[in-house]
Amino acid sequence: MTQTWRIDTAEQTLVLAARDARLAQVVYWGPALAADTDLNMLAQASALDVAAGMLDDHPELSICPEASQSFPGQVGLVVFDATGAQIHPKFRYACEDQDGAALRLSYTDETHGLTYTATFEACCDTNIIVAQASLTAQTPVRLHWLAAPVMPASQAATHMIDYAGRWCGEFQEVKTSWTAGIRLRENPTGRTGHEHFPALVVPELEGTYARGGAHAFHYGWSGGHRMIAEELPDGRRQVQFGAATGIEKTADTSFQTAPLYLTYSEKGINGCAVAFQRHARKHIVTFPDPDRPRPVHYNCWEAVYFDHNLPELQEIATRAAALGAERFVLDDGWFGTRDDDTRALSEWTVDARKYPDGLTPLIDHIHAQGMSFGIWFEPEMINPVSTVYDAHPEWALGDRDQILGRNQMVLNMALPEVRGFLFDRIAAILRAYDVDYIKWDHNRVLPQPDAAQTRGTYQLLDQLRAEFPHVEIESCASGGGRIDFGILQRTQRVWLSDSNDALERARIQHGASMFLPASVTGSHVGPRHCHTSGRVHSMAFRGWIAAQRHMGFEMDPRELTDEEAKTLTEITVWWKAERAWLMQADILRLDRLDPSILAEMHLAQDAQTFVVFANKIDSSKQILPRPLRLTGLDADALYHITLENRDEQSHLSRGPAVLKLHDVTLSGQYLMHHGLNLPWSFPNQTWVIKGLRQS
Ligand code: DGJ
Repeated sequence: MTQTWRIDTAEQTLVLAARDARLAQVVYWGPALAADTDLNMLAQASALDVAAGMLDDHPELSICPEASQSFPGQVGLVVFDATGAQIHPKFRYACEDQDGAALRLSYTDETHGLTYTATFEACCDTNIIVAQASLTAQTPVRLHWLAAPVMPASQAATHMIDYAGRWCGEFQEVKTSWTAGIRLRENPTGRTGHEHFPALVVPELEGTYARGGAHAFHYGWSGGHRMIAEELPDGRRQVQFGAATGIEKTADTSFQTAPLYLTYSEKGINGCAVAFQRHARKHIVTFPDPDRPRPVHYNCWEAVYFDHNLPELQEIATRAAALGAERFVLDDGWFGTRDDDTRALSEWTVDARKYPDGLTPLIDHIHAQGMSFGIWFEPEMINPVSTVYDAHPEWALGDRDQILGRNQMVLNMALPEVRGFLFDRIAAILRAYDVDYIKWDHNRVLPQPDAAQTRGTYQLLDQLRAEFPHVEIESCASGGGRIDFGILQRTQRVWLSDSNDALERARIQHGASMFLPASVTGSHVGPRHCHTSGRVHSMAFRGWIAAQRHMGFEMDPRELTDEEAKTLTEITVWWKAERAWLMQADILRLDRLDPSILAEMHLAQDAQTFVVFANKIDSSKQILPRPLRLTGLDADALYHITLENRDEQSHLSRGPAVLKLHDVTLSGQYLMHHGLNLPWSFPNQTWVIKGLRQS
């Protein structure tokens, strides 16, 4: 007996098939199939030959490959009974439920009292399929590994891309060739991490940003993931995602994976990126007031660090507002006796030495400048040097003699009393003051990963959001150490990186745009001498890099020359004029014919307007920049093209590159096939090119 199911979005179809009531396997995942496709025939067509030296039948590469089937690779479930003996389940079909775009398949193993359920939900408006698995047991079992529904990887792919990174260097793409055996990513740090963004991109053949087919995966969980990309001896390939192994610490009767976000696109890697960006905007992030334009931020961290002083902060606020800031975020240093990073985390009451009349004088001043007020917390952390630790050392996770991280320990978020304490302290601040934003930090890894910690944090965030629905939250973890769709379901912005170096930021933003839309990606203009790299960039370059995402400032505005202040003000005015569509645009990365140019095209939802940010990050190998091919346009339409920052021409640029001289009107075909000739420029400069559809 063969069973079949299909899940569709406009751009992709996923077909599952099963034989003799065994677990389903994905027999097709690719471009959308005709509605009348004969799925039984397709299931038959997916049968593989058997050659000498093989088993007599193929163990299925099912949604949960089973050891009991002699599966020649990594299995989808590793579970132990109460005595510690490993269970090798043999699941058989129990029931199903298909309701429109959602499919649920349940399987039982009666011998061991286990039920495995897989769900798939197609989001047609974003081209994302959300897959999730769960396991229930009649008596408590110990879970070591449960993969979200396991997917095949295309044998047409030559390589795969996953993500590495570090502090100030997030979202580094790692390209690995497909070869026999496993590519394994396991994140044992207990948080998403700079080093381990949980995702995989599998372009077919030599697919590029703009061309070819690609599959992509993102695991939406903040507690550390595991990924297996494996080529079996027979050539089949599988991709598994789940939480890091062993992070379920207690025996239980019910477990669930986080959602695995899946997409396939024929429009190159960009097609997958657009699916993730749109999904984040439409289904993951919820803004308290969706109509409120993203406010320009000012964050005082790199201006004053822990040295808070009311008159100084008031002067900074006045200057920030004059530059165009609309929200002032008071960073670390306002509470307890927090004079440096050795003490006081968890003492969430205002420091009366620095703020004798509380925060009201500062907030009133900020409001008088027309800005709203945001404030920094790092709720999940505690310094051993703190009054709270003195009273409750048992609240901290791990051994007393553990290696500290930034002089701090992690609070045990699984404890209701810890969550209750944090809720009360944060709520007291939110009730006492007019706060519209929290920057929620997390500056060290866990002493031991534990899924209960992540669930506890999610619970606290959910409780605070329910009580204070008007407050937006930013996820920060020494920059981009906790970015994923799990945390973004509870927050509205990520602090992508502690690097405000425009050059580094350009690269980090480019990598992150595979998943993150501009509206949630914080990007600030930092100090003239970058505090984390020592580099010095022009104000124009710093400003335009920040203007490519949710814009903000983080330098001491008192350091700005009049010229710098003028440039920044002008770029901020430009950003405000464009943000209504820009924050809803698709970010399309442009193929790099010239590796010295890192370029993105931000295309409005109605495809009538676009802006290309061509970031020159190095000198070109040849003297002139190669033409910049655009993408995503209507080949037959005409576009009016303007170089927005024509005034930034270099004195070494002497020729008639037309964009320097005047606007042009060109067809989509020309722009996508030949591309734009950019004026020559120094490295560390951005050309900003705006396009308006004419016909
Ligand atoms: C780490 C963050 O990434 C910084 O932006 C800043 O908020 C500091 N923590 C404050 O301690």
